[in-house]
Amino acid sequence: QVATTLNLNDIQGDVLIGMRKVKELFFFFSIKDAATFKSKLGSDIHSLVTNTNQILPGSSNVPVTAVNVAFSNTGLLALNVTDDLLDPDFVSGQFAEASSLGDAGTSNWVPGFAGTNIHGVFLLAANDVQDIDTQLANIQQILGDSITEIYRLSGAARPGDEEGHEHFGFLDGISNPAVQGFDDGSRPQPAAIASGRFILGTDGDTVSGRPDWTTGGSFLVFRQLQQKVPEFNKYVEDNALNVPGLSQQENTDLFGARLIGRWKSGAPIDLAPLRDDPALGADSQRNNNFNYDHPEIPGFNVKSNQTLCPFSAHLRKTRPRATLGAETGAGDDHHIIRSGIPYGPEVTDAETSSNQSSTDPSLERGLAFVAYQSNIASGFKFIQQSWIDNAQFPSPIAGITGNTTGIDPIIGRVAGSATDAPRVITGTDPLDTNKAFTIDSEFVISRGGEYFFSPPISALSGRLST
Ligand code: HEM
Repeated sequence: QVATTLNLNDIQGDVLIGMRKVKELFFFFSIKDAATFKSKLGSDIHSLVTNTNQILPGSSNVPVTAVNVAFSNTGLLALNVTDDLLDPDFVSGQFAEASSLGDAGTSNWVPGFAGTNIHGVFLLAANDVQDIDTQLANIQQILGDSITEIYRLSGAARPGDEEGHEHFGFLDGISNPAVQGFDDGSRPQPAAIASGRFILGTDGDTVSGRPDWTTGGSFLVFRQLQQKVPEFNKYVEDNALNVPGLSQQENTDLFGARLIGRWKSGAPIDLAPLRDDPALGADSQRNNNFNYDHPEIPGFNVKSNQTLCPFSAHLRKTRPRATLGAETGAGDDHHIIRSGIPYGPEVTDAETSSNQSSTDPSLERGLAFVAYQSNIASGFKFIQQSWIDNAQFPSPIAGITGNTTGIDPIIGRVAGSATDAPRVITGTDPLDTNKAFTIDSEFVISRGGEYFFSPPISALSGRLST
């Protein structure tokens, strides 16, 4: 049975819209006593879990601390839920897939993520850490010894003007796909994507035959991605471009923006190709209204022109938009809704002056990456393997002219390569898009993660508690 409308009272709040708070705790746990856990899930936890309607702007029912919960495959098995959710990646778990996701083995993985010991995760979000602590204490009191903590990661928006920006300094969370049946059409942007690409059992879910109780759920991919900020900044400075009419600083900023595909303000370089335009970056009516195609420019060819945005830019690698043709074709199968938050402290003066990230674990920083989709193989995993880590994508394989693109300069890794193996990208210099740049260190290190299922809230007091 395919649902044609989205039940926003049943879909957990983080999935379609994000928690909309500045602090978020990811609390990873293992289930020790399934009978007690199930009974408390149905009786007490169920009513604590925040739905989508509660988080929508204008809601009169926004919780101080939003709560979501998701389960790994081993978590469902611990609850004796053996139904097949028909997602092989979810079943195998992320640890088994580390090398195929490009990770340099698992020696960098947080010990808690190694293996399949994590049964579930609570996502707790508030504007004040104390409110998160209070709600966590409440949950722990309810569940008692039926769970034990395996690991926790605290995320927080960066301070002051950097709020909303990830640690490299770029505004994040701008370009999630519009979702059919949810998006109100008021924001100019690429055509909305079928809800079933994200929400199980709804229009456009390519997998049929899943258990009815999963309708309204979504697979949550979690990754802890460490960012080496001083090293990234140094690389950008060392490779400042040489575009006439721009100052040294502008040429430095342009190089960084061409690695990402947006300026630090969020302005897309496809619309602001030479200088940052903070008004554009902040304007939700304009900042996602582009697709790399420019029929208004005589002779412009979206399959060869990289003067506005390189094929290798993180943004274009992870969502090529019209580069592959109108976004109603194959590209429509490969979308995720991102809902991550930065973690870790700001860069210290000592790190800035040495151009090196500290090895002190308390100074680790990065992105607590969260992505939702209805099918991990065609969502996160496809984007990571077939686009990000594929030097051939999009040029030349997609009938696109120009040199081989190279892997994603921010997060790409050639599967099986040594740590810091040189990576070559093209397209980044607008004066000569064939020029190759070699990146000989990694700016993002995977610290591991897990695949989860974020069930519809009704399942917490239904299938999962019986
Ligand atoms: C967009 C940074 C990891 C997929 C962006 C943007 C930034 C960014 C600054 C632009 C903001 C926006 O458009 O919302 C990072 C950093 C990462 C990271 C610093 C790691 C530390 C990933 C991963 C994936 C991914 C692992 C997928 C496997 C995307 C997608 C977009 C995006 C799909 C939107 C593209 C579009 O709609 O045009 N990222 N990202 N990112 N990123 Fe990442």
